Amino acid sequence: MKALILVGGFGTRLRPLTLSVPKPLVEFANKPMILHQIEALKDIGVTEVVLAINYQPEVMLNFLKEYEAKLGIKITCSQETEPLGTAGPLALARDKLIDETGEPFFVLNSDVISEYPLAEMIQFHKAHGGEASIMVTKVDEPSKYGVVVMDEETRKVERFVEKPKIFVGNKINAGIYLLNPSVLDRIQLRPTSIEKEVFPKIAAEKKLYAMVLPGFWMDIGQPRDYITGLRLYLDSLRKRTPAKLAKGPHVVGNVLVHETAVIGEGCLIGPDVAIGPGCVVEAGVRLSRCTVMRGVRIKKHACISSGIIGWHSTVGQWARVENMTILGEDVHVGDEIYSNGGVVLPHKEIKSSILKPEIVM
Ligand code: GDD
Repeated sequence: MKALILVGGFGTRLRPLTLSVPKPLVEFANKPMILHQIEALKDIGVTEVVLAINYQPEVMLNFLKEYEAKLGIKITCSQETEPLGTAGPLALARDKLIDETGEPFFVLNSDVISEYPLAEMIQFHKAHGGEASIMVTKVDEPSKYGVVVMDEETRKVERFVEKPKIFVGNKINAGIYLLNPSVLDRIQLRPTSIEKEVFPKIAAEKKLYAMVLPGFWMDIGQPRDYITGLRLYLDSLRKRTPAKLAKGPHVVGNVLVHETAVIGEGCLIGPDVAIGPGCVVEAGVRLSRCTVMRGVRIKKHACISSGIIGWHSTVGQWARVENMTILGEDVHVGDEIYSNGGVVLPHKEIKSSILKPEIVM
């Protein structure tokens, strides 16, 4: 079975992290975002993953070569010379997606995180016999997504409306599709939107079905949602594989600590924290609702609540970093500094407090 992951866009909403690495390689819960998806695909028997990409293919491929060997799955790139949208890349990768078996293939948006119930989706797809299946989930604010109106009994999609201006429903496209090869005959090799041009037509022909996603879902393409996504992911980890979470008197709630990270005396870590490889958290540090990327040093008695600390940064002693502060790679926050929502570009030194949310260039 084959799969394609849509890896376009420049990840501007996850800056400054995406100034250092392409968005799919930014770690989420100590693992590059795209690996969460590749591993889930591998688990249900996918043998080849095509990355539909329109920038930096070398960085991605070099990185993924290592995982190709480790996971025993073929990872290839299909590179666009101009952005082809969310459907055009499928036409470009047509030969890679179709094989003699005529099996359906998966298509995934790259920045969504969930429990990936892909085996259930295959069953669902086989059972309804239509042309395409999409995964849907309920959200409070549907207007920024593709909204799906479906028959609750048959699961047949009646309408698919991308980013509706008026309320049409609260079930949205979760960005996980299983498509028959015949869908490729509907797509031309030009910039095309699967949400605006392909799904509405398949729905009108009554061949599009929607499976309601069990468990959590989050689009983690922007910092606030990334932090919320981490909470939901760790919650789900607690239910599925609690042994992966940290334990001890210094841990509050769900916390993930890489085995090579060092935690000092008298720290209080959690809830909803991920600490990456090689990090040093000195004595008396307080961390909650944050991600600390590889190689970070947090000095004595610093306090971080709600934020992302980029690779190899340092946070000075008694510093207070809060309210969605995002530090890029190799940022150095001085002792006793306060950051209230600062977004700091890579390689900066912060010597005075950031009193209100702003970008520090
Ligand atoms: N290869 C390639 N080329 N990929 C692209 C391109 C392109 O030109 N444009 C977008 N993508 C990829 C993005 O990287 C992302 O993985 C996916 O296609 C969707 O891209 P967006 O255009 O950023 O859509 P969105 O996030 O606003 O909305 C989409 O996701 C929602 C769920 O999070 C839609 O699919 C919505 O319907 C959906 O609800």
